[in-house]
Amino acid sequence: MKRKLIIVWLLGVILVLLACTDTSTPETVKPEESPVVVKEEEPVRIGFSMDTLQEERWLKDRELFKKAVEDLGAEVEIVAANGDDALQISQAETLIQSGIDLLVIVPHNAAATAAIVHKAHLAGIQVVAYDRLVKNAELDMYISFDNEQVGKLQAEAITALVPKGNYVFIGGAITDNNAHLLKEGVFKVLQPYIERGDIHVVYDQWTKDWTPANAQANMDEAIRTTNGQIDAVIAANDATAGGAIQALKNHGLASQIPVAGQDADLAGVQRIVAGSQTMTVYKPIHMLTQKVAEIAVALAKGEIVTANEHVNNGKKEVPSVLLPPIAVNIDNLESTVMKDGFHTAEEVYGKGGE
Ligand code: GAL
Repeated sequence: MKRKLIIVWLLGVILVLLACTDTSTPETVKPEESPVVVKEEEPVRIGFSMDTLQEERWLKDRELFKKAVEDLGAEVEIVAANGDDALQISQAETLIQSGIDLLVIVPHNAAATAAIVHKAHLAGIQVVAYDRLVKNAELDMYISFDNEQVGKLQAEAITALVPKGNYVFIGGAITDNNAHLLKEGVFKVLQPYIERGDIHVVYDQWTKDWTPANAQANMDEAIRTTNGQIDAVIAANDATAGGAIQALKNHGLASQIPVAGQDADLAGVQRIVAGSQTMTVYKPIHMLTQKVAEIAVALAKGEIVTANEHVNNGKKEVPSVLLPPIAVNIDNLESTVMKDGFHTAEEVYGKGGE
């Protein structure tokens, strides 16, 4: 009897144990499973230090660059210094202290901004020069259009119309390395004509801060000092071309003298339609902003970026990307500037130029 009781008792214990044990999936009990916090990768932050928003094109650069960076899932903080070197330096310092991952800069003054590159590097931040080169600095990368080619396209277009005569060169800002590259391109094309005595450069002056007013004053001086004996004008961009053409107009010379510009500003394109300006050089800004955004975000994420061109900035051979500019006149205006939507037909023809 006793044995039977013990057996029944044992069976009972076994049954109870079995009931408590889950035989379905072997459970690996992990230590207290803290919910896995998937750390959202912080979006990289790009600082964009611009010289100015004075010219129409820079408004496009700002808008398109912001979109290109954000489309890549990154953030961008944009400041503009209105041509003030001290302000550009202090704005860049603020960006650097705010913990950006990379700085993109359009220098007002190619030399003065070397200090910004130095400060950024002290904070472990790389610097990419946008459109304009920073001179004499350990710059990490430079992305622009081929600015010497811009000058060549201008001079080729004008010498084709005026192979002999008196030329006026209205340069850009002496502080801007692009103005020097453009001038080199112009004079490389003019040189053989000058040596043959076919072309005389009767006036050649830089234009402070690229302003139309300073360009108009330069052109007034050129007209005065040559008694208006001028056969062609090459102006470094459409803003300065506009100033020069205003001076020509005031002296009753507009639309009689071929004038070259750059940037395909709306006013410049309208002057081409109206006939007071001969050509401009179109630089598809969306190509520049896309390229800089891709490279800046990649570098900010610590990725390696290779460049197959180098530009010497006086300190080093800076890895560079130089995009092709496009010469534009009345014949290809629609197939270039307007096809890209840089300006609409309504904008160009609506106002009917001048
Ligand atoms: C240059 C730029 C030109 C022109 C100019 C004035 O550096 O390449 O497109 O706009 O600045 O801002």
